[in-house]
Amino acid sequence: MSGGPRPAPGARTPDPDWNPTPVVPSGAPDDVPEAWFNLVPNLPVPLPPARDGDDGQPSRLALQRRIRLAAVQEQDASTESFLPIPQRVREELAAIGRPTPLLRARALEAHLRTPARIYLKREDVLPTGSFKLNSAIAQAYFAAQQGVRTLVTETGAGQWGHAVAWAARLFGLHAVIFWAGVSARQKLGRHTVIKLLGGEVYPSPSERTQVGKALLRDGRHLLGSLGTAIGEAISYAQDHPETRYISGSNLPHVLAHQSVIGQEVKAQLAALGETPDTLIACVGGGSNLGGLMGPYLADKAERGDGLTLIGAESASAPRLTRGEWRYDHADPEGITPLTKSYTLGRDYELPETHVGGLRQHSGSAVVGVLRSQGLIDAVAYDEAEAFETGSLMLRHEGVLIAPESCHAVRAAVDRAIEARRTGRAETIVACVSGNGALDLEGYTAHLGDGA
Ligand SMILES: Cc1ncc(COP(=O)(O)O)c(C=O)c1O
Repeated sequence: MSGGPRPAPGARTPDPDWNPTPVVPSGAPDDVPEAWFNLVPNLPVPLPPARDGDDGQPSRLALQRRIRLAAVQEQDASTESFLPIPQRVREELAAIGRPTPLLRARALEAHLRTPARIYLKREDVLPTGSFKLNSAIAQAYFAAQQGVRTLVTETGAGQWGHAVAWAARLFGLHAVIFWAGVSARQKLGRHTVIKLLGGEVYPSPSERTQVGKALLRDGRHLLGSLGTAIGEAISYAQDHPETRYISGSNLPHVLAHQSVIGQEVKAQLAALGETPDTLIACVGGGSNLGGLMGPYLADKAERGDGLTLIGAESASAPRLTRGEWRYDHADPEGITPLTKSYTLGRDYELPETHVGGLRQHSGSAVVGVLRSQGLIDAVAYDEAEAFETGSLMLRHEGVLIAPESCHAVRAAVDRAIEARRTGRAETIVACVSGNGALDLEGYTAHLGDGA
């Protein structure tokens, strides 16, 4: 592409000094897939639909229809397996450096003395430091197409908020971000970057919304979580009819936008003559998992136990390993519709951790189906295990990865150690969902523990 971004119809003209030149070598738009893969029509059983509660409250589904972008609602309702990626979005995905590299972690393999081959899908090299940009660009594009000027959203670790602020800037939009308070207070560096991008940030719970005020008044969920931030973002959109609310995980369209990850891995492994035995992703809501594994669903149906899919979660939010598969709200106040996913219950007070992206009580209904049908396995790691793995990655591969991604790599390390015992030359692919440079507080705390 040439000459920087062009304003989309209806969008404010971007600042003249804004030039989102990619910081990593970019591919050509032709290297980006032509379509996103939609998991929903490919699930072995129908996706349980979102629904309203029978508590007499105003319809949450009607509210969602009003505050969400038209294009993503269409995508969520689509029965097509492939959703075309607009050319402008393909250009921007190429400009940020897609396809991202697939790294063979040879030094880590040597350290582990394993016959396994470990491949790492490097989403951490994207300009904002995580895979979240894949969906943020798509959603900001759809917003600009619709003539929307302001996007409101929530963020857990801050990676999604950062990506939305970046993509909003690209398309001349304003971004309002509610950020799980505990995480916002830990990550002053990321806070600065979001503000430099022009984002408006509120640690949640806040006095800014009705939902935040209610939580503060009742003294509930004061640490904040992705759930409190979701509730606040929706509440803000409800009170500001000119804004549109967007999500960075859980929903079918977000998982579809992330399918560029799995489609690229397929092509990259095929070029190496490799077939994966195990695919691993960390799980908060489930979008990098859905993005990596969705394109492999047909392979899983064909190969059964020959292909293992693993979701690695935080032991502080053990949804897939210890939660229940049932209808629940995604926020503690219950402003979201009921969706069926693995949940710890909306009253579950999540402990303080440095793994903000995996710190939520419920998640994607699509991933709920995959788990309930036995298609994905789940493991949980505590913070110490995660940061030990992050330190291992830095020492052996020279890469500082996000605390969330440490969970996926930890699961890959465990498989590789098991392969040493069995002698199996297994091919393992783990998604490195993010970079850890703006999450150093967690590593610092880990060092303080005597590591
Ligand atoms: C770096 C990183 N990885 C993973 C996740 C989890 O998101 P998801 O479960 O939607 O893939 C997050 C969420 O904030 C994140 O920031």
